Amino acid sequence: MTEKLQIYKCEICGNIVQVLIPSYGELVCCNQPMKLLEIQHDETEIGEKHAPKKEIRDNRTFVHVKTHPMLPEHYIQFIEIYPEDKSELHLKYFDPGEIPEYEITNFIDSTKAIELCNIHGLWGEDKND
Ligand SMILES: [Fe+2]
Repeated sequence: MTEKLQIYKCEICGNIVQVLIPSYGELVCCNQPMKLLEIQHDETEIGEKHAPKKEIRDNRTFVHVKTHPMLPEHYIQFIEIYPEDKSELHLKYFDPGEIPEYEITNFIDSTKAIELCNIHGLWGEDKND
């Protein structure tokens, strides 16, 4: 059984998919089950470097991961933001060299933010995600 907005990765080809409407089927790619990417949190240096952070500037609210490298071999691939009830989903992709930052324009008080590092996987803002 999948859950809404879960993210799965194929450990063979690297396909990454997200569940929009959950159901009972198992997600399979390259003839094997896909791996659920858990949202990681920790207070180590690596966790601190990957945790999305909120910042208010000029009355606008942003989520960013400016503490992380944006090199071709190691970078933030996307940031997603959504309200706690998962009634909306906002996603922004990044290329190496870009600043990994995304403006929150809705549901500012209840926003959850996650990001995907191409090497270290999926990370959330804090332990409550
Ligand atoms: Fe990383």
